[in-house]
Amino acid sequence: MNLSDKVSQAVQNSKLYNLNHFHEAWENPDIRRLMGNELLYPPSPHVIEAVKAMIPYINYYPEDAPTNKKLLNALAGYVGIDGGSDWITLGNGSMEIIDMVPHAFINPGDEILLPAPDYSPYSRRPIIFGGKIVDVIPDSNYVYSLEDFTSKITANTKMVIMSRPNAPVGNLIDRKIVEKLCEAQLIVVVDEAYAEFSEQNLCDLIPRYENFIISRTFSKAMGLGGIRLGYLIAHPEVIGYIDRIRVPENTSVLTQTAALAALEDIAYIKTNVKRVIATREWFQEEIAKIPEIKVYPSQGNSVLMNVDGTGKTAEEFVTHIRNNGYLVRNLSGGRNLAGKGFFRVTVGTDQDMQAVAKLIKELV
Ligand SMILES: Cc1ncc(COP(=O)(O)O)c(C=O)c1O
Repeated sequence: MNLSDKVSQAVQNSKLYNLNHFHEAWENPDIRRLMGNELLYPPSPHVIEAVKAMIPYINYYPEDAPTNKKLLNALAGYVGIDGGSDWITLGNGSMEIIDMVPHAFINPGDEILLPAPDYSPYSRRPIIFGGKIVDVIPDSNYVYSLEDFTSKITANTKMVIMSRPNAPVGNLIDRKIVEKLCEAQLIVVVDEAYAEFSEQNLCDLIPRYENFIISRTFSKAMGLGGIRLGYLIAHPEVIGYIDRIRVPENTSVLTQTAALAALEDIAYIKTNVKRVIATREWFQEEIAKIPEIKVYPSQGNSVLMNVDGTGKTAEEFVTHIRNNGYLVRNLSGGRNLAGKGFFRVTVGTDQDMQAVAKLIKELV
């Protein structure tokens, strides 16, 4: 039988996402993981205790997202949404939100505006539902104007998605652009995975625009990438649509417990965020002193650079850094990251970044 004739259109539209960098990190526990924009600090002791205390109960099913009001209200409090739990639902990581949003809104032929570059699953998942990605191209410093977006709007444009701060660049698209796009009657999705590191967010726009959706995660500032919790903030009508297509019980008992405990220890999160910001500022200033390297100012927890001016490739830098105990990510050749010069370093501890800066200088 020819199985490929029988697979769904969704399978035919999709491509595998390469996550070998996580595999490599798990296979080499001594390596420092500066490749996946995780938090390099351990979870709060309060989270560890809460998860341990819940382990004897994992024979039971979790609450479903809409009924765990305690967690939803804690999240609403954290992001400052007055309406509370009706404005939030949960995803198995924000990765699942990247699936649920197009699933709820995209019909075959709909166009989705997406900055180039942006977080790569955004260029893949909407296609599964028949959507077409339209690249929004910024200037050479990856700064966007409103016109960059509006010039791409057609009668088929349904949605615009962007991460803010942007992954992998780390800069922020102007909030006025987001407001104008909301006013253009598109479904506007802003992924705020890294919002804590930029000390700003767009949650105040949520009550103003019923077509505005924010995606957040516990994988970055919260330091809980392994628990897989994302959350979506939007008008209750949108939450209702998402909950219709959301897989029931998509987040585990341990995930929900860890998240609630993390929200009970906000001081711990704030301390880590401050440390990451201070280290990031030091690192990018240090790399900016190397004239052969172009560094892109970041407000996230990673720093993108281009090494074309050194006469070497990103691969040579990534390999040299890898051979000295640090895994970083070669992003050359990605959407609007042409050539062989781009790599990105997640901000780790001061010690990590001092070592990586030294390795980079050595190779230059
Ligand atoms: C912009 C952005 N959104 C979402 C994610 C994935 O987050 P999660 O762990 O919640 O699936 C990442 C991961 O690197 C990211 O860079």
